[in-house]
Amino acid sequence: MATLETGLRTHTCGSLTEKDVGKRVSISGWVANHRDHGGVLFVDLRDRWGKTQVVFRPEHPDDVYRQAGSLKLEWVVRVEGRVAKRPNDMVNPDMPTGEIEIDPESVFILNEAKTLPFLIKDEIDVSEELRFKYRFLDIRRPAMQANLLLRHRVYQSVRRFFDAEGFIEIETPFLMKSTPEGARDFLVPSRIHKGKFYALPQSPQTYKQLLMVSGFDRYCQIVRCFRDEDFRADRQPEFTQIDIEMSFVDEEDVIGMMERMMVNLFKEVKGVDLPSPFKRLSYEEATARYGTDRPDLRFGLEIEDVSQVAAVSGFKIFAETVGEGGAVRGIRVPDIGSLSRKQVDEFTSFVREFGASGLVTIQIGEEEIRSPISKFLKPESLTEMKVIFEAGPGDVIFLVAAPQGICSESLGQLRNRCADLYGLRGEIDAPLWITDFPLLEWSETENRYMACHHPFTSPKESEIELLESTPQHVHARAYDLVLNGSEIAGGSIRIHRRDVQERVFKSLAIDQETAERKFGFLMEALECGAPPHGGIAFGFDRLVMIMAGESSIREVIAFPKTTSALSLMDGSPSEVDDAQLKELGIMRIQSTE
Ligand code: AMO
Repeated sequence: MATLETGLRTHTCGSLTEKDVGKRVSISGWVANHRDHGGVLFVDLRDRWGKTQVVFRPEHPDDVYRQAGSLKLEWVVRVEGRVAKRPNDMVNPDMPTGEIEIDPESVFILNEAKTLPFLIKDEIDVSEELRFKYRFLDIRRPAMQANLLLRHRVYQSVRRFFDAEGFIEIETPFLMKSTPEGARDFLVPSRIHKGKFYALPQSPQTYKQLLMVSGFDRYCQIVRCFRDEDFRADRQPEFTQIDIEMSFVDEEDVIGMMERMMVNLFKEVKGVDLPSPFKRLSYEEATARYGTDRPDLRFGLEIEDVSQVAAVSGFKIFAETVGEGGAVRGIRVPDIGSLSRKQVDEFTSFVREFGASGLVTIQIGEEEIRSPISKFLKPESLTEMKVIFEAGPGDVIFLVAAPQGICSESLGQLRNRCADLYGLRGEIDAPLWITDFPLLEWSETENRYMACHHPFTSPKESEIELLESTPQHVHARAYDLVLNGSEIAGGSIRIHRRDVQERVFKSLAIDQETAERKFGFLMEALECGAPPHGGIAFGFDRLVMIMAGESSIREVIAFPKTTSALSLMDGSPSEVDDAQLKELGIMRIQSTE
């Protein structure tokens, strides 16, 4: 352990214990508490290591006692004194320093503080806006300090692991060529080359592939990435990845290495044994059973397809939906008793948000079955459904009849909603690999196929021949890692031959000229002895968020942006001087929006 002694302290506020009783010490920190008990002043000093109690009594020298009386919350103070044992009835077993207190000899006020906009403690009832405006104070709070400390531990553990496995960390440029594919780029104007722009990297994808061509067969980098997209709880305009690339590997090599990293990380940092080997599901299985390619496996509520039974059940809408190529699927939520009219309405409007036109509930009682459509359903169809869902008294079956995609999406969301409402998420972390993704997905807005992962992902060798004829049937050599319902990593085996890369660009409707202009350097590299290679990138913030038990990545980033991409503390983005714009050859136009 490093010595933390400096000219202004012999110990931190979290280190003194019973074994230090009698020592003369000096501690520095912030006034975290200030109580007057009949003339005896109890002052807690806080730093990031903990809190220590200093007890000022009227019999202390006048100047010391008087100065203690003037102290206010969050003043920065140094105290010199002796470590004393607390009287037995004052011991606080919940604090590492709870056995001792400081008997002060002198107090030095290092700096005063004005009344702060909120108290520096864990539970505060203030808006996120205020927390972000005063982020430097927000992260003085012990819970936030613990999150950032955890983040640091995760960095160190990951770096140690990859270093020991022969990976080398290489920095890649932040100013690069704009090649948007997926999210929007953040652009940086060039002063020297007016009218031209750099882009901030959405990820170092092309660079890490080039590093493989250079022969650095195991690369890792904990790196900032920038994407101008719509933000939510698990997305930020700038975020951090653990970026990995390896040569001479197949899917199993990458998956195996990452699994070992995760097991090691959770053990080292949290003392948790992740269930290993991690479960795996194909993309198709995951969407069929859970309605999403990032299912939370800490609870069941699997989706059942009852289209066949429903089509002949007597209920017209079911028959029509199945007849038109749609599906009737549902989930059974166990043991929730009967639902009120209001609850049913709430569930129905919930699935409507995801495109479903309605929701059918079937409530199983001891004797009877309650459902708004029971009078239309043949009794034998109801019995068959009960069997498929293995439903018993107290259970409720929710059914959605809709086109396949809407069916999956709405039930996947409903599954999560029920898990939250009824507290079904288990305690044990549930890592899961998703494999066998389709290579391409059709984009209605772009009117062309887009890469599901990115354009450098290798198609399955045996399906390359389908690229021109039936591209929708080609699978990717891609894999995602999902943890507790959150996509925390995504990667793939890459294309390492120019001819295959050209064919994939073609199926993405990227013509030869565009491919050359955007990715010419990579295409050329593929002709210069590119080894077979593959990799992955972890969303570092999401990983830390889950490890910290938080539900937003903003809670584990020191200086995050709001959901509308603002930094409320320094006021960015902000206007710039006309002179700066002129230098860059940029003219302001009036926004018409
Ligand atoms: P991908 O785009 O899947 O892959 O990103 C990898 C992981 O990064 C996290 N992530 C984000 N986290 C916070 N805010 C965002 N805006 C954001 N966007 C993504 C997710 C995601 O799983 N170059 C490829 C990786 C590869 O193929 O090796 C890539 O960037 O957790």
